[in-house]
Amino acid sequence: MEIRSNKSINGIINIPGDKSISHRSAIISSISNRKVEITNFLHSQDCLNTLDVLKKLGIIIEDRNQKIIVHGKTIDEFREPNTILDVGNSGTTIRLIAGLLSGTDFMSVLCGDKSINSRPMGRIIDPLLEMGAKIYGRDHNTKAPLVIFGQKNLKGKIFDINISSAQVKSCISLAALHADGITEIIQPHKSRDHTERMLEYFGANIAYDGKYTKIIPGNKLTGRDLFVPADISSAIFFIVASLILENSHVILNNVGINKTRSLILDILIQMGANLSIKNKRVKNNEEIADIESSTSNLEPIEINEDIIPNIIDEIPILCVAAAKANGVTIIKGARELRYKESDRIRAIYTQFNKLGIKIKEKIDGLQIQGNKDLKVKSAAVDSFGDHRMVMALTILGLLAKDKINIINSDCVKTSFPDFYEILERHLS
Ligand code: S3P
Repeated sequence: MEIRSNKSINGIINIPGDKSISHRSAIISSISNRKVEITNFLHSQDCLNTLDVLKKLGIIIEDRNQKIIVHGKTIDEFREPNTILDVGNSGTTIRLIAGLLSGTDFMSVLCGDKSINSRPMGRIIDPLLEMGAKIYGRDHNTKAPLVIFGQKNLKGKIFDINISSAQVKSCISLAALHADGITEIIQPHKSRDHTERMLEYFGANIAYDGKYTKIIPGNKLTGRDLFVPADISSAIFFIVASLILENSHVILNNVGINKTRSLILDILIQMGANLSIKNKRVKNNEEIADIESSTSNLEPIEINEDIIPNIIDEIPILCVAAAKANGVTIIKGARELRYKESDRIRAIYTQFNKLGIKIKEKIDGLQIQGNKDLKVKSAAVDSFGDHRMVMALTILGLLAKDKINIINSDCVKTSFPDFYEILERHLS
């Protein structure tokens, strides 16, 4: 993909549905005893993989009139798959589905692509084992492929875990729904709470505050139709583009601003962004709003560990904003970035470096020397197959002296298949 320098971005931009909420809308609806119509479901590769896995488990899913219709059942009506369940590149699919499958009465095998099969799975295998699940992973029970022999006698437990991960919390929560006794999960910091919100909306007996989750099994879920908000983690690429390009102004409607996800907006505002959040409202237990942003003079910022889980997916694009800020930005306590679709600390460091940005790599973070007059060098950069790296590098490429080339740009389909088409339509 060749990216040429561009002057401005303008207009009302339609951002597709939230990836995290789309996964959960299909997975939680599948155990909700009801037909659930989902509007604005994200048709990206990761979410399509979730639908494919659920279909292999006997769930009927229709894709009609721009809606996904899930014919929900109970876990007892799931069917043993007669083939492996391939999640592709999707960490959310493998970790959430593993929790669900632990409480069935059949055998299943979950695997994914090269990146998924090298990402840490011990973080879900260990707690599931403690609940009585029979789950096996490669490399001494730490990696996928995973083999699960579903158990009907899972036990609720109290987990005080040392990572703040919504995928881990959601995996345990989905197993806990079908366990005997109460489950409590305590994490060091708040992480996204979409699973908790959707379970509550469907009638589960649940208490949560982002850091703490308590599930009391027994209540049958009752599915209700869902609207998936626009994905703030996708919207942010266009917001940052509007901040760093001259004469720019964008409006993004119906964006999910759940408090466990929207901290990136507060950070950009602290950095001096002209950004406003309007028409706040709540739809199916999730807060949404319209966002307006325009060309800004950005100041650097220091980011510490306690808020990293809330901006974990936005750090590549935050680094782009930092590169255009007037000073040094410091990001600390972000080691989790090394276990994403790529090692994002390494990827940002090496590729920003190639583009002439002064950047330092730390074991758990980055230091970026910003420049308000930034023009990036012509170079060929690699996304390492990571969708958020491609999009971040693309936005950086808009500041090229001439042009940059991005290798492996196809993986944008993981979360935002129409990214380039939409971007081109609004650039001038
Ligand atoms: C996600 C949680 C986060 C995030 C990922 C999606 C989710 O991962 O990085 O893109 O949908 O629960 P972790 O929970 O592993 O931090």
